[in-house]
Amino acid sequence: MMKRIQDFTIKSYCRLNTTSYIITFQSGQPIEPVLPGHFAEIKVPDAPDVFLRRPISLLDADYSEKSLSFYIKVVGKGTRKLGELQTGQTVNIIYPLGNSFSLNRSKNILITGGGSGIAPFILLARALKKKNSSITFLFGAKTKSDIVLTEEFEKYGKVLITTEDGTLGEKGLVTQHPVFNDVGIFDKIYTCGPDPMMKAVAKIAGEKGIDCEASLENMMACGFGACLCCVTETTSGNKCVCTEGPVFNTKELVW
Ligand SMILES: Cc1cc2nc3c(=O)[nH]c(=O)nc-3n(C[C@H](O)[C@H](O)[C@H](O)COP(=O)(O)OP(=O)(O)OC[C@H]3O[C@@H](n4cnc5c(N)ncnc54)[C@H](O)[C@@H]3O)c2cc1C
Ligand code: FES
Repeated sequence: MMKRIQDFTIKSYCRLNTTSYIITFQSGQPIEPVLPGHFAEIKVPDAPDVFLRRPISLLDADYSEKSLSFYIKVVGKGTRKLGELQTGQTVNIIYPLGNSFSLNRSKNILITGGGSGIAPFILLARALKKKNSSITFLFGAKTKSDIVLTEEFEKYGKVLITTEDGTLGEKGLVTQHPVFNDVGIFDKIYTCGPDPMMKAVAKIAGEKGIDCEASLENMMACGFGACLCCVTETTSGNKCVCTEGPVFNTKELVW
């Protein structure tokens, strides 16, 4: 797939809660096709202390509007600065990067996410819906205010929630949700979010013989396979998450 280094202007912000927002960029040029799981490397402007580009999953793409959207959770200086820019400001983006989720003929699908790991799942759900899959989303967070975009996901399937403090949905961790009591009804699981969540989900999938793909969010620097700072151990050796991932079948991962 063709990678582009392209200037965009900030079209809009949508604030979701105190620590997350959606940022939409528009280009004067046509945008490249993107697949579910692809990410971009965004250069944060006017931030000399944010030297490296930041890897962020593609939330959505509108080809007629020539726009790309990203869901950003503020964790440090880059994600904070990106949320403080002015609409109309120019931002340079390299995309589409990485591999993508596989879309084989699964009928009953469980998608689990937490934190910024919900981002790749709008594009994924849209692609799965075209294949007539039935989708159950299970999103976990510390507390109710961290749960966002549920109305958007409800367009594609049933949305289940866990919060650690019990303020929304089931109290506890993602893997403590009752849906896992009968997880054998699913023939595919996709997961993205904090490593402990993905590992726990992958363990259950392995035990039940359910095919499972995880999109890893390892720290990155160069983003194109040169610095090796993003490697993850797999059954066939170390692999760069930026070029050979971020999506891996969990059977491959040595966690
Ligand atoms: C393939 C991929 C897709 C991603 N998609 C999204 C997304 O859609 N939305 C989103 O908000 N974030 C996403 N991330 C995570 C995002 O890249 C980091 O949160 C961001 O780079 C942090 O930059 P910062 O300057 O704000 O934080 P920094 O100031 O660099 O660091 C602040 C804190 O965040 C931690 N941190 C930095 N990078 C990561 C990381 N990759 N994972 C976990 N903790 C990190 C640091 O250890 C530090 O504690 C993705 C990461 C990868 C690799
Ligand atoms: S980020 Fe440099 S090799 Fe992956």
